[in-house]
Amino acid sequence: MRNFLCNRVKSITPYTPGEQPKDMMYIKLNTNENPYPPSLKVLKAMKDSVTDKMQLYPDPESVKLRKRAATYYNVKFENIFVGNGSDEILALAFMAFYQDTKICYPEISYSFYPVYSNLYQVDDEKIPMNDNLTIDVNKIMNKNKGVLITNPNAPTGEHLNIETLEKIISSNNQNVVIIDEAYIDFGGDSVISLIDKYDNLLVIQTFSKSRSLAGLRIGIAFGSENLINQLTSIKNCFNSYPVDKISQVAAIASFDDELYFQSICQKIKNTRKYTISELEKLGMEVLPSKANFIFSKHKNINGEKLYLKLREMGILVRYFSLPSISEYVRITIGTKEQMDKLIKAIRKILK
Ligand SMILES: Cc1ncc(COP(=O)(O)O)c(C=O)c1O
Repeated sequence: MRNFLCNRVKSITPYTPGEQPKDMMYIKLNTNENPYPPSLKVLKAMKDSVTDKMQLYPDPESVKLRKRAATYYNVKFENIFVGNGSDEILALAFMAFYQDTKICYPEISYSFYPVYSNLYQVDDEKIPMNDNLTIDVNKIMNKNKGVLITNPNAPTGEHLNIETLEKIISSNNQNVVIIDEAYIDFGGDSVISLIDKYDNLLVIQTFSKSRSLAGLRIGIAFGSENLINQLTSIKNCFNSYPVDKISQVAAIASFDDELYFQSICQKIKNTRKYTISELEKLGMEVLPSKANFIFSKHKNINGEKLYLKLREMGILVRYFSLPSISEYVRITIGTKEQMDKLIKAIRKILK
């Protein structure tokens, strides 16, 4: 078979997303999706937005959405960027800020970062974790490199506080520091308030997790006006219309239904607490988590085996083959009913 890929990308290993199998109905606890649907108000706004104006392109700069987000987050409209999922914003940021800089990120963090590093040929340093899989913060200070931190971290769930992150941002102020807050709404503290103080800070969030809109693809980023303008100029070299009309409307509507948003985040936090305590009763070790997933292991069974056994029983979790975390599985927090089925299945497997 002929290979038409150009030399620069020939040897790249693509990111592998969590499986979305179609062979049977699984309880899906493998991709950190929200177990609850979008609010009825969001669905209504989406339906109403499907009009005979679909032959026209969407607003390329998503002005209405950015204005609504600006009020919601108490920042200026000029501080906001939106994209086709936060993965696209990350890709644009790599393209815009890192191609002639070195970068670093914790060795165990979002597995898309090394893929983008390869794609854009960025020299990346993976900072080893502490023995308990926490981030070795001291090793990320004064790097004179771009920095990427997932907070809360994935797949471990660890949350770094604002003071610690501010030290990382200020000690690396020559380059862009990205704080990827994909899971921040499940109990973390955002660093959005620091964007006025640090013009090298880019905070990225997503509507895919806490706002139940993974199916639409909407990401949002916050930074100084200067940084956002630079990111926008690269966006306009790549795709002028990244966020479609329906997604722009849905995102605005999700800000307008705060009550629903808060209630599902709270339910997930409650279910997380319940699941951790039940799994601990079964002898599982669970790392502290401020995300909508937990990272857990049991001394009698490795991660792959537990993943395969659960899969046979119709439950999908995520397993990573990397040696330092191969004992663990990452479990997305679903509904209480789903977690009861998971706990029952694990109890059976461990017997
Ligand atoms: C840490 C992290 N960042 C970004 C993303 C991408 O999210 P999106 O659906 O907005 O592209 C994910 C998705 O799993 C994630 O785990």
